[in-house]
Amino acid sequence: MPEFRFGRLLLRAIEETDLPIFLSFLQDADVVEYLGMAAFPTTLEEELNWYENALKAPLWERPLAICIQDEEGSPWRLIGNCSFKKIDEQARHAELGLLIGDKREWNKGYGTEAMQALQWLGFTELNLNKLYLKVFAGNKGGIRAYEKAGFIHEGRLRQERFYQGKYDDSLMMSVLRSEWQERQQDQKG
Ligand SMILES: CC(C)(COP(=O)(O)OP(=O)(O)OC[C@H]1O[C@@H](n2cnc3c(N)ncnc32)[C@H](O)[C@@H]1OP(=O)(O)O)[C@@H](O)C(=O)NCCC(=O)NCCS
Repeated sequence: MPEFRFGRLLLRAIEETDLPIFLSFLQDADVVEYLGMAAFPTTLEEELNWYENALKAPLWERPLAICIQDEEGSPWRLIGNCSFKKIDEQARHAELGLLIGDKREWNKGYGTEAMQALQWLGFTELNLNKLYLKVFAGNKGGIRAYEKAGFIHEGRLRQERFYQGKYDDSLMMSVLRSEWQERQQDQKG
């Protein structure tokens, strides 16, 4: 995909020069709290390994860098990444992933916008019918961002992980193409 502008965001392919920044995101305990990965890359070498594997994935399943501008005309700055995962071409659905890794940028609407951007791409470019995600029940900011982006609560997976001495439930949320189209019509007024 060439660069994709959506709202205040620029989505682009990840690049090797992004890796030190991604690594710094993953070294922040607040950022990784709800990511649910068993272990995080702790060295640039491990991060490089992740990057090389990511480039072997089908084109649309490669992570996209999320960039913003501090002011109109200033250079684009990397704040996170997002992705389509498990694209099922027959059932026409995919899972979404999101990381705003620069926590100074939390609660400014970027997570919501990134999920809206993925819906636009998923329903127009990829011709999918459903987009879904899993979010830990304690991730209140994530749940709120997904609700704002139009995701509907679909179910609860009980005690999905053991983290810092306790079990966490996961919530399943999704949006259908028809719901997204209806919202597009409403926004046109
Ligand atoms: C979860 C995440 C993507 C949210 O991104 P974001 O850019 O902060 O999201 P937004 O600003 O669009 O929306 C966050 C909303 O949650 C609200 N919120 C934040 N913390 C909250 C809390 N503890 N309780 C209730 N609401 C909360 C914010 O106020 C905001 O809502 P508002 O616009 O109505 O005020 C981001 O925090 C992140 O990447 N965290 C680390 C990795 C992660 O958790 N990824 C998601 C895995 S499913």
